[in-house]
Order: sequence, then structure tokens, then C-alpha cells
Amino acid sequence: MKVSVFGIGYVGLVQAAVMAEFGHEVCCIDVDRDKIAALERGQIPIYEPGLEPMVTQNHAAGRLHFSTDAQQGVEHGQVIFIAVGTPPDEDGSADLKYVLAVASTIAQHMNAAKVVVNKSTVPVGTADKVRAQIGKVLQQRDSELDFQVVSNPEFLKEGAAISDCMRPDRIVIGSDNPDAIATMRELYEPFNRQQDRTVVMDVRSAELTKYAANCMLATKISFMNEMANLAEKLGADIESVRRGIGSDPRIGYHFIYPGCGYGGSCFPKDVQALIQAADHIEHSATILKAVEQVNEQQKSVLFRNLMHHFDGDLAGKTICLWGLAFKPNTDDMREAPSRVLMQALWQAGAKVQAYDPEAMEETQRIFGQRDDLALMGTKEAALRGADALVICTEWQAFRAPDFDLIRQELHHPVIVDGRNLYDPARLAQKGFSYYGIGRGM
Ligand code: UGA
Repeated sequence: MKVSVFGIGYVGLVQAAVMAEFGHEVCCIDVDRDKIAALERGQIPIYEPGLEPMVTQNHAAGRLHFSTDAQQGVEHGQVIFIAVGTPPDEDGSADLKYVLAVASTIAQHMNAAKVVVNKSTVPVGTADKVRAQIGKVLQQRDSELDFQVVSNPEFLKEGAAISDCMRPDRIVIGSDNPDAIATMRELYEPFNRQQDRTVVMDVRSAELTKYAANCMLATKISFMNEMANLAEKLGADIESVRRGIGSDPRIGYHFIYPGCGYGGSCFPKDVQALIQAADHIEHSATILKAVEQVNEQQKSVLFRNLMHHFDGDLAGKTICLWGLAFKPNTDDMREAPSRVLMQALWQAGAKVQAYDPEAMEETQRIFGQRDDLALMGTKEAALRGADALVICTEWQAFRAPDFDLIRQELHHPVIVDGRNLYDPARLAQKGFSYYGIGRGM
């Protein structure tokens, strides 16, 4: 099938690569010339396991094209995906200007009937706006070409995007048009070989499904962080509590890990966007507001623990950070808890000595050169001469470190663990002051 994807960001590129891998002929369009030129040379703008070989192989095989030529993109695709960004407005609601600009572009160049698919995370009602925009431009062109707008939200996790996309839990298709639904089923047929995972519904429900999923997951995390804070004060261990509740299949083990707050480009933005959408219809999203508030507070828990340990004085101290990315297996620093910690440390007059397996370049890009930030080549080098170690991201490489070496390298044997990677009893035995999340110490 001939497919085009407008917006070659994270979601667009992964979707395009996987569709090409399954045999579709995919044309990728982006306004960013440098990005398109780099992709043509086989340079992938993001770090995502498995993406680079998939892009280069399918490009070489002629199934994946990159271009800035919107007309070519519109004419090529029988199905056209809109996967451009929806950055938050000042008030946190999703800004649709890029989505609607692509809708206009599609209408300007349309030469045959098309199925237009919203892949970006967009507020409920966006498909109607896209439909109206395309209709308006077609009318200006005096064109009566047929088109359908479908909502097909994305549920990828960064770091596991390729496998999530190739083997999705569900494929949500929002449309009430039988032809459009049939086209989408055909497109996704190779994704569905083992078992049909398609869930067809009306377009507004599909749009809300995406927000509901992310908000539910964010709620689980904030709930656990609240329980962790309670456990801390009540002298209980949240890790025992987590195992105790996760064993109930109605609760489950997934997404109940307490930590230093959720980050990334999705949860914070989507929770805020749904709060705003609710406000617009004069509904106060009480739970979501609490979810967000708990998360904001949780992002300063690492700093609070350090302040507590060093009696409120961090001036002149050097703090070693292991992990900077908002989660493992990505170089993404958006809304990462490490950023909140670093800013607080700098404000308190401390220096940061950090290591992350993938996110160092990105950190450098964000903060530039500064005397109070040293990015080190290895996790061991980051420890050298520091006053405490803080774990911000649970990379595999941090799970079983050499604690004797850590003791040797640090001025003070202090570990502030934002991901509960270690056993408090073992660390106490080794002479460490250990601060986990919700571990009643
Ligand atoms: C999330 C969703 O998991 C995807 O299903 C969704 O498609 C995606 O957003 C999106 O909307 O595009 P992602 O942002 O890549 O994916 O990251 P997650 O793996 O969900 O992690 C989000 C944050 O929650 C991370 O900061 C992570 O550290 C934190 N987290 C996760 C916890 O603190 N505890 C947990 O138990 C799980």
C-alpha cells in the first residue's frame, strides 16, 4: 500500500520505518531540510534501539523515501498520516497549528481520494477540525474529491518503540466510515497476523482513549509516589508494599514503581492537556490535578534528601549523578527529574558530575558549557571525588555496581537512590547512608 507520513519526529519515523518493514511503500515528509538530508544519508536524529538498521535497510530497498516536497507526499499516499508535534500552549493545552497546517497542505495538493490519519496525540474534537480545514481548502479549489479523517493514536514507549509498533497491544481506529475502516484494516493487516488487535470505535472515543491511557498510567505512578511518601513517614517499606499489592491481578505489577517523578514528552504534557480540556468544558479534573501536583513535588525528593543529609548546606559540594535521561534506553531529557535536581543543586552552590550512557550530548546541548557541570566518560569517573551519588535513571549498567569502589571514590558514603535499585540493608552493612524512595529510613 502507498502511505505518506507528514512529520518525521519520533512517532512519524518509527511508524514509517515499521510500515516499510512490513512491505508498504512509505514517503516521509518534513519541513526540516537538514533532518531530511540527514535521514537520506542514513543518520537518525534520535536514539531508539533497532531504528537505525530498519530505516537504512528499507531506504536502500526503496520502500522508504524522505522528502521535503509536500506535493509529492500528498500525491504518493492513499493513506496520509499526520504525525507532527502538538506542543503545549502557555496554558498547557495542545497547540494544533502544525496539525492544521498539514491538513491545509494535504487539501492543496490532493489529486485523488485520501484517508487522512491523525497519529499525533490531539485533543478530542481535532478530527472534526482537520475535516473542516481540508473541506474548506478543497472548496476554495472547487474540488469535490473525497476524503476521510481517521483517528489512530499511538501507544509507543520510547526505548521499546520498534517492538511496540510491530507488536502493538491494540490498534485503535476511530472512524464511522466503513471504507476508511477497511483501508485501515488492510494497512494494519501485517501487524495483526498472530491475533487481530484492532479496536474500532467512533473518532472522539479514539481521541480520548489516548489521553485516558496515559493519564491512567501517570495516575498509577503518582499514587505509588504518594504511598512511598506515606511509607517513609510511617516507617514502612514501599518495595514490600509494591510486591504486596502488585500480586493482585486487578492491580498488577506494571507501572507501580515509585521513583523521582515521571517525565518525558508524553505524561506531563498529556495530563496537562486533559486538565485544560476539562477546564474548557467547566469540568474540574480533580484526580488529574492531584496527579500532576504529586509529580511536581516528587521531582524534588532527591534534592530534599541531599539537603537533609548535608544539614541544609550543599554549597561547594560535588554531587555525582548516574542517569540523566527521563528513563533508560533513551537520550530524551524532556521533563527529566535530573533537570530539576541539577537546577536545584546549582542554585544551592553545588557542582554536578554526571554520567549517562546515552543522554550526555543532549545534556550538553541543553545546558552548554558551565563550570558547575562536568560530564564524565564513565560511571566510575563520575564518582571520583564527589560527596554523594544520586541515581536518577535506572539504566541496567547501574543495577549491580561495585559498592567498594563507590565507597573508595566518594568523599562521603552517601547514596540517594531515585529508583530503588539497591537493598537498604546491604548498603547499611557496607557503611553507606542510603536514601531510597519510601523505604522508611
Ligand atoms: C508513554 C506511554 O507509556 C506510552 O504508552 C505512550 O504511547 C507514550 O507515553 C506516548 O504518549 O507517546 P514514554 O513517555 O516513552 O511512554 O515513557 P514510559 O515508559 O511510559 O515512562 C514514563 C515515565 O514514567 C518515566 O519517567 C518513568 O521513569 C516513569 N515511571 C514509569 C515511573 O516512575 N514508575 C513506573 O512504574 C513506570
